Amino acid sequence: NYYAILMAGGVGSRFWPVSTEEFPKQFHDMLGTGDTLIQKTFSRLSKLIPKENIFILTNEKYNNLVLEQLPEVTQRQVVLEPAMRNTAPCILYASLKIQKENPDAIMIVAPSDHWIEDEVAFTTNVKQAFEYCQENDALMTLGIKPTFPNTGYGYIEGGKASEDNISTVVQFREKPNYETAKQFLAQGNFLWNAGIFMWSATSVIKAFQTNQPQLFDLFNTGMATYNTEFEDDFIRDNYPKAENISVDYAIMESSTNVFVIPATFDWNDLGTWGSLYDKLDKDEDNNAVVNAKTLTEDASGNMIRTKADKVVVVDGLNDYIIVDKDEVLLIFPKSKEQDIKKVLQKVKDNF
Ligand code: GDD
Ligand code: MG
Repeated sequence: NYYAILMAGGVGSRFWPVSTEEFPKQFHDMLGTGDTLIQKTFSRLSKLIPKENIFILTNEKYNNLVLEQLPEVTQRQVVLEPAMRNTAPCILYASLKIQKENPDAIMIVAPSDHWIEDEVAFTTNVKQAFEYCQENDALMTLGIKPTFPNTGYGYIEGGKASEDNISTVVQFREKPNYETAKQFLAQGNFLWNAGIFMWSATSVIKAFQTNQPQLFDLFNTGMATYNTEFEDDFIRDNYPKAENISVDYAIMESSTNVFVIPATFDWNDLGTWGSLYDKLDKDEDNNAVVNAKTLTEDASGNMIRTKADKVVVVDGLNDYIIVDKDEVLLIFPKSKEQDIKKVLQKVKDNF
């Protein structure tokens, strides 16, 4: 009864110029290991879930990328979105489909672009969550010990813990402002939301029905076309009507049956060049280099990526992102990496 929903429809704009709308980061070998991020994620999940029960949710323009990179996946498993509406609509739609296929389905919802090395610990945590939601109407999360007031994450306030380390959740707060995040850290009982969820199809659909009745009605009505020749038409006409909202805001903040298991694995959401830098091996001057051949002098803490074997000489530059991709060369301070999103917009407006 185990299923997975793999979310692979984001654009990863802070990884520009490697990640682009045509070819987002989950389809790139960001770590330089030979596998793309979505391939790594699929392989991690397939240790726990039958391969044919792993559904990939993505925009229709990435359909070919998914099928090329995951040859074991069939078209039935690729749920295509005709419009970008963030994670809530696609999760509800896929959950309704999975429930039709198997009313007792228990599922994990996972991003396609995270770094998790310890697959054994990951599997243990997820299995424990699966067992819990088999017995309980529960929305299960994995909590990461926070290290700084990151405003790009969801925060989970843990309540009473049972002896097997599953805690009730007092509040789930998506992307608080800096002051609030600082206060949460000082309080000590908050964890970061890893962005990975476990629940039964029944529980997640119920959560949508309660908290997002409009969205629920939209897709639930469409289920009449499930597995018929009319399903594609229904989605094409109606998916764009869905509100653009993430699952965190749509159901997690307002649900009262949220639980958290503190993750026992190291986790990195590979959201920015700096977070990638942290995970890569460094050369003797602490530069992280992917694909390039480098000569460096008085240069440390740099994140360097080019096409294979490009020679890069750096002298007198520290803590920079240096990325060469086709017709774009980015030289940008790591400390301002969150601004790459805005820079990309400027580039689009100007060139
Ligand atoms: N299919 C599909 N469709 N996938 C999408 C879409 C979409 O419209 N939008 C985003 N995704 C995918 C992304 O590719 C990513 O794998 C995942 O959904 C999460 O989206 P992000 O945009 O990366 O979310 P976030 O990082 O801002 O926040 C989430 O993750 C944090 C941890 O990394 C939240 O769950 C936070 O609470 C959490 O802390
Ligand atoms: Mg993210």
